[in-house]
Amino acid sequence: MAESISDESVLQSQIPNTKVGRHPTNRRLWPLTLLLSTVVPVLAALLVYQLDSFDPAPFPIHEFGQTPISALLRNDHMLQGAEFVGAGKLLGPEDIAYDSESHLIFTGCEDGWIKRVRLNDSTVESVVNTNGRPLGVALGLNNEIIVADAYKGLLNISRDGEVELLTDEADGLKFKFTDGVDVADNGMIYFTDASYKYEFHRHWLDVLEGKPHGRFMSFDPLTRKTKVLVSHIYFANGVAVSPTQDSEKV
Ligand SMILES: *[C@@H]1O[C@H](CO)[C@@H](O)[C@H](O)[C@H]1NC(C)=O
Ligand SMILES: *[C@@H]1O[C@H](CO)[C@@H](O)[C@H](O)[C@H]1NC(C)=O
Repeated sequence: MAESISDESVLQSQIPNTKVGRHPTNRRLWPLTLLLSTVVPVLAALLVYQLDSFDPAPFPIHEFGQTPISALLRNDHMLQGAEFVGAGKLLGPEDIAYDSESHLIFTGCEDGWIKRVRLNDSTVESVVNTNGRPLGVALGLNNEIIVADAYKGLLNISRDGEVELLTDEADGLKFKFTDGVDVADNGMIYFTDASYKYEFHRHWLDVLEGKPHGRFMSFDPLTRKTKVLVSHIYFANGVAVSPTQDSEKV
């Protein structure tokens, strides 16, 4: 460092009116220029080529002039008397299923673990790791945990952690993003695949593309059949069977 400064000052004092200092810098910059002019465009082209199935919907400009939909005011007292359970011991829990008999909460975490939280003392125990991303969680009629796993599909998990794949495709189309699940009183399992095109880790492409790749389906535990109930849904997410069991909300 000290050497180059003194070199430069010697040169500058010898040729006082020339900006000598620039030349060595330019020479040192040529790899960067090459990178910017060739390598970067080639990489960008490769990226675009890879994403060639990306096919965005036209931008819905007309939607933006409309009055926004208003939602009910949040209840400010909703969290009064609430307490954290399993805080700091669960990584990104997405959905919960509560078993009022055993006072256990089941949830699926970002690291693939299905965990159960004991309500009386907030103890967190591991059930099983799906090696996927468990999102929706619901209790089945036979004490099993039904899990919508983004990468694996619809899973049946026993209380001892045995994992069985119930379904991962419908009408010849594989799920890419199994997302929400609920179980009706008659045992019928209702669930969603948020996208048949983009996986969980590429969900932003589904959002950017803005097309309805989601499906709402049922799995009948008796016939083992998967049935598509509604297709062409924009990012079909959560599912809830109505308390009266006569409808499902997606
Ligand atoms: C919570 O319940 C479990 C059994 O489900 C029991 O073993 C444990 O001692 C209880 N803890 C407290 C703090 O009551
Ligand atoms: C899940 O597996 C258990 C056995 O571990 C079985 O008793 C139960 O019926 C299965 N549930 C479904 C929905 O297939």
